[in-house]
Amino acid sequence: MTVKGNDMTATSNQHLHGLWAAVAGSWAEHADYADARGVDVTNELLSLADPQPGDRVLELACGPGGAGLAAAECVGPTGDVVLSDVAAAMTAVAARRAAARGLTNVSTRELDLERIVEPDAAYDVVLCREGLMFASDPIEAAREIRRVLRPGGRVAVAVWGPRERNPWLGLVFDAVSAHLGKPVPPPCVPGPFSLSDVNVLRAVFDAAALTDVTAGEVSVPLREATFDAWWERTSALAGPLVNLLKALPEDDSRVLRARVRDLVAPYTTVDGLQFPGVALVAGARREA
Ligand SMILES: C[S@@+](CC[C@H](N)C(=O)[O-])C[C@H]1O[C@@H](n2cnc3c(N)ncnc32)[C@H](O)[C@@H]1O
Repeated sequence: MTVKGNDMTATSNQHLHGLWAAVAGSWAEHADYADARGVDVTNELLSLADPQPGDRVLELACGPGGAGLAAAECVGPTGDVVLSDVAAAMTAVAARRAAARGLTNVSTRELDLERIVEPDAAYDVVLCREGLMFASDPIEAAREIRRVLRPGGRVAVAVWGPRERNPWLGLVFDAVSAHLGKPVPPPCVPGPFSLSDVNVLRAVFDAAALTDVTAGEVSVPLREATFDAWWERTSALAGPLVNLLKALPEDDSRVLRARVRDLVAPYTTVDGLQFPGVALVAGARREA
């Protein structure tokens, strides 16, 4: 049987989603780090989407749930927050973190942000931190977001900015691509920098008929004491890359690591590694 068109996309999506499920343990381990590093992004998301006491909030691609957990404080006991991710292993991590905080207004759900299996107009606010760029069709995902928002409801999303302005991750993809002699991810596969142009991000919201679109940058620098600490963490969290790195023979791993060590030289200081980083944060609403 030949697999074509939508079937092929479905198969490839399943594969990509499986890659994320496989790194849920690492995201659990580094969840507090990810939240601490992303605190300015989360604050900007909350400022744009402005969750109020009593609101219903949906977090998409929640991973360990950092943005949604922060929103749970804003909506209080009369509101509720649904933490959702395509990988059940990720929502399990998010559920454990919500329980550890004693939050009773938080639940979890397995949802694909490209096909949000929720009723129309079910939410006041939708949040997504570093997830929309993994959609194979981001406009369709934005249309889905609009559909599940009530009229007047707000959405805020964060995605990584340009690859060259995020060398803490971009140079890992550069090194792996150079090592394998082919682009990683392949041009047709969405990766962390798929929506890294602010005009493209705006256009996605516009195409989905969301209104009052705003988009800006938030600085997200990364500091690590040592090369090893940075490499262990980054290579454990980089969902689309992890299996690829694990599959490399030992000699290849050594060569790749040396290549990466050369590439990070410009970011090495007496205090360890200091990388710049930039996220794009966009907000919009469904017209009332
Ligand atoms: C870079 S992590 C970000 C996790 C979390 N939002 C954070 O900022 O800590 C990307 C997340 O997107 C999820 N994801 C990828 N594709 C998705 C899709 N189509 N629908 C929903 N979640 C998806 C992954 O499972 C993973 O948890």
